[in-house]
Amino acid sequence: MCGIVGAIRNNKNAADFLIDGLQRLEYRGYDSSGIAVLNNQGKIQRIRRVGRVAEMADACRAEQVFGTIGVGHTRWATHGGVTEPNAHPHISHDLIAVVHNGIIENFAEERQRLQNAGYDFQSQTDTEVIAHAVHQEYIQNNDLFTAVKTACRRFQGAYAIGVIAADKPNELVAVRMGCPLLVALGENENFIASDVSAVISQTRKVMYLQDGDAVKLSSQGIDLMTNLDNQPISREIKISELSLSSLELGAYNHFMQKEIHEQPQALTDTIQPLLDGNFAAEVFGENAPELFKDLKGIKILACGTSYYAALTAKYWLESIAQMPTDVEIASEYRYRQVIADPAVLVITISQSGETLDTMEALKYAQKLGHNRSLSICNVMEAALPRESQAVFYTRAGAEIGVASTKAFSTQLVALFGLAVCLGCLKGLIDDTQKQQYAEELRRLPNSVRHALNLEPQIVAWAKEFAQKHNALFLGRGIHYPIALEGALKLKEISYIHAEAYPAGELKHGPLALVDENMPVVVVAPNDKLLDKVKANMQEVAARGGRLFVFTDDDSNIQPDKQVAVIRLPRHVGILSPIVHVVPVQLLAYHTALALGTDVDKPRNLAKSVTVE
Ligand code: M6R
Repeated sequence: MCGIVGAIRNNKNAADFLIDGLQRLEYRGYDSSGIAVLNNQGKIQRIRRVGRVAEMADACRAEQVFGTIGVGHTRWATHGGVTEPNAHPHISHDLIAVVHNGIIENFAEERQRLQNAGYDFQSQTDTEVIAHAVHQEYIQNNDLFTAVKTACRRFQGAYAIGVIAADKPNELVAVRMGCPLLVALGENENFIASDVSAVISQTRKVMYLQDGDAVKLSSQGIDLMTNLDNQPISREIKISELSLSSLELGAYNHFMQKEIHEQPQALTDTIQPLLDGNFAAEVFGENAPELFKDLKGIKILACGTSYYAALTAKYWLESIAQMPTDVEIASEYRYRQVIADPAVLVITISQSGETLDTMEALKYAQKLGHNRSLSICNVMEAALPRESQAVFYTRAGAEIGVASTKAFSTQLVALFGLAVCLGCLKGLIDDTQKQQYAEELRRLPNSVRHALNLEPQIVAWAKEFAQKHNALFLGRGIHYPIALEGALKLKEISYIHAEAYPAGELKHGPLALVDENMPVVVVAPNDKLLDKVKANMQEVAARGGRLFVFTDDDSNIQPDKQVAVIRLPRHVGILSPIVHVVPVQLLAYHTALALGTDVDKPRNLAKSVTVE
């Protein structure tokens, strides 16, 4: 949640970069934004606006903001409402300006302490304590780097901060503790940002900071880098491979639409290492062969869409690899008394790799004695892979839309590959079977392409859905999580209330909701449960319910007055969930479009959920 940027340049306007960077980070939070630059008169000039970065950018242009050093922020409110005084940067005594991503947990005590010392607070945020605490230290010795570190040692919680001082025109200080932050190195200009997408238009040379790292930047480079205890540190410079085009909309209207359509390529890219590595354990990291030895079971921890990927994978892991698999919502697991088993592999799944609930669940599992961990993640160098012993990076490319789409389907591919890998290690899969699984993966992107071709038919359904206030989604077996995912997508971006049930569960309660006003979406592939699903559909039809059925070309479901049918290609077999998720993604997208919601930035949400 929240994105921060900072720039220190030689003769160039830092504001231009800050605005562009914030626009690229807007997916992280978008209820207000702001920048602060040091202008030619040596004064900190701050512009903040409630609403989108574009509004703040207009204000900056109108006021001709110019300065060679500055910091910027796009907010997802935690402490204090969505108001301009609560927007960042926060300033102390016109001397110190701070941007912050994260939460200062002991902010109430710090606020009291600083108020007792005479500091006035202008906002309700936790961040303002950082500005005043840094100011308090800075006026003692005029050393910004030391002041920031000393102040940080007081804070509990998670934070990534950028700080400038009005009397230090060539000094930008940044600290990372529990929230992502990188330094990007250009020619006579340097930057900080929450993620690489903000800097890629300027430079590909990046250095990912680790927890406790503090850095002092000038326009010439990194002047000092230590941990909070003042021990010198150094970090590797990496060249980011993120493509600029993955951050642009191109011919699409929304990132979500683009990302749905990118799935064939994202899948191809993610499948490749599995095939190249012939499903060997090493594909999941150099420690994986050791981690996968004598495994007794798997526990998957995840949230939201990633959790639904885990629910789907349970079917593969148990059937292909005969591996007992537990799937838990990360935010629940971390507060439950559990018995850890060191022979169980803990897998975290996260597109962003920085979801706090998942991170804390992993730490909890490790504390309890789980010492085998694998992260499935889409963002290089994110916190979760760093905390895990092995990692498989999905190759979905940047996912900007808050609603996760291509990250989900690539997570599924990774998890399917893992099931095959573990099945091989257990001697359950012979070479012929392995080649068959490889072949199914090779065919998958094309099947997804066919599913994407259904878009015009789905647009017609979406117009009907846009008139509704509720919807039910049904699925059975491995397609039940796809129904869950369909319902989540619909509510997330169209704000229509949607629930998903295993179709057999309908008669145990939810059937009471069914009448002619309740659309019932059925994920009904031609698998071994199809007859059961058809029986459940009869139960809906008998109560006057209207059915919207996604089925396969080779299943025998006929449309009638109450039943609308969209046919996917022939049943693709074991990978069917990855094909069947496409139409429910498209249904949500086009329904939201018909309703005119902000598809890529749905209300109240953000892409990376780094708060509890
Ligand atoms: O980055 P993560 O995969 O850990 O995020 C988990 C959820 O917050 C995320 O999947 C969320 O549910 C999506 N916005 C759903 O589309």
